[in-house]
Order: sequence, then structure tokens, then C-alpha cells
Amino acid sequence: MKGVILAGGLATRLRPLTWVTNKHLLPIYNKPMIYYPLESLVKAGIKEILISTSPDHAGQFANLLKSGDEFGVKLYYSVQENPKGGIANAIGLAEEFAKGEKITVVLGDNIFNYDLKSTIEKFKQKEKGAMVFGIRMLGMESKHYGVIEIDKSGRVISVEEKPENPKSNIAQTGIYIYDERVFNFIKKQKTSNRGELEVTDLNNFYLKEGSLECALLDWWIDAGTSHDELLRANNLVAEKVKTGQL
Ligand code: DAU
Repeated sequence: MKGVILAGGLATRLRPLTWVTNKHLLPIYNKPMIYYPLESLVKAGIKEILISTSPDHAGQFANLLKSGDEFGVKLYYSVQENPKGGIANAIGLAEEFAKGEKITVVLGDNIFNYDLKSTIEKFKQKEKGAMVFGIRMLGMESKHYGVIEIDKSGRVISVEEKPENPKSNIAQTGIYIYDERVFNFIKKQKTSNRGELEVTDLNNFYLKEGSLECALLDWWIDAGTSHDELLRANNLVAEKVKTGQL
């Protein structure tokens, strides 16, 4: 299993903070944002991790994280030239790095305390499939994210990207596990109305063949959606770190 962290995009919602700096380098309590998803993958036992970022900021990531020695892993870097290519476009750039292995992908602005290790171990035994990770939200809040609908047995029925009328209160977090075929599916994808290759469309390839699974998290935050969420992430993370929960 290899790891991929996506730290590209334009982060227009966080300007002026992100005019000259990449969102994933902004501080969350006592560390740059990217440390959190990186440490989650390290804790999950992943030894080789690719960081995908924008051409303007790739050097800053290399300056900060270097070879990965400090984290006990080997880090690789890739550049996504089109910052609006979409999440699936950025995942597609990891094909050579993956070298036919399964991959765990984490969005660089997602912070969580879920133990991925055992989930990954189980997934490795599977012949094929993909996994998404959901979190229950209050009321209709899920509509700001991908929305996962599951039945009583936990089987995934639908995944929709930011629907006006969400079919459930489960938001799709930015953690995904894919089998080796993910790159073939990405090559079949068409750009969405907003001109991106959407991760939700990618997940729907697996859903259609009945091989998409969903696990639920208890705590997760997407620190990158607004100034208020960034502030909330700082406060929540500070509290979790001080109480040993993160
Ligand atoms: O955070 C969870 C949500 O992330 C999911 O619920 C949605 O299904 C998924 O589409 C995504 O939605 P966002 O609107 O939050 O995506 P955003 O454009 O903010 O990008 C999320 C991360 O991915 C961000 O850390 C930057 C990175 N990214 C994004 C794009 C569009 C890239 O590296 N390259 C890209 O082209």
C-alpha cells in the first residue's frame, strides 16, 4: 500500500492568506496543516508517500518535509500543473509512483484521528474495490461535501458531489482507498460541469460494480473550506492535542 496526499488547488476561499502561500502550509495549532494527514498515513504504517502540489509551491514542501526521514518514511513529490484539474486528475498523476500497488489517498486539508491501520490491512487482502470514509453531519450540512447514502447493512447506495438535496447526512471525507485499477477508471472519466475530474465520479465507477465500501469516522475536519473552518480547526486541534486525542 502506498500513500498519496493532495496539496494542490488554488484555495481561493482562503484568500488573502493563500495569495503567496499554499493552504496546506498554513498553521493548524502548532504545525503546518500538511503534517496532520502526513502523520495519519505514517501511523497507518505506510512507508512511501507521494505529495502532489502546485508548481509554485513544490519547493516549499520539499524544504519543509525533505526526504521524509524525520517521519520515518520515504517522501516523493509531484506537480499538478493544472490547479483546477480536480482531485481525480491529481490522483491520476500518481500512476508511476504506485507501480501497480493499491493506494490510500488523503486530501491535504483533512484532519482526523481514525485508526487507518487495521482498515488498510483488511483492504490489502481484498482482490478489488475501493473505500470511502464518511462522517455524520447535523441536518443538511452534508450538502457542502460529497454525500454518501448507505442502507441498513452499511452498503453504499449512492455518492453525490455537493447535491442540493442530500440523500443522507453522511459527508464523504477526503480519505479514499483504491485498488490497482484506479488509474484505468480515471482515464475513462469526463470533466464535470465545473471543469474538474471529480473524486465522486471516480468513486461511482466502484459503486456501479458493487465494490465500494464505506467506513464511518467519529471526528474529522476539513480545515480548508473557509476562514471560519480554519479558525475552528485550530481551536479543535489545540484541544485534541492537549487532551491527548490527536
Ligand atoms: O474534504 C472533503 C471533500 O473534498 C469531499 O466531501 C468532496 O467530495 C470532494 O470533492 C472535496 O471537496 P472540496 O470542495 O473540499 O475540494 P477542494 O477543491 O477544496 O479540494 C480538496 C483538497 O484537494 C485540497 O486540499 C486541495 C486538493 N486538490 C484539489 C483540487 C481541485 C488538489 O490537490 N488538486 C485539485 O485539482
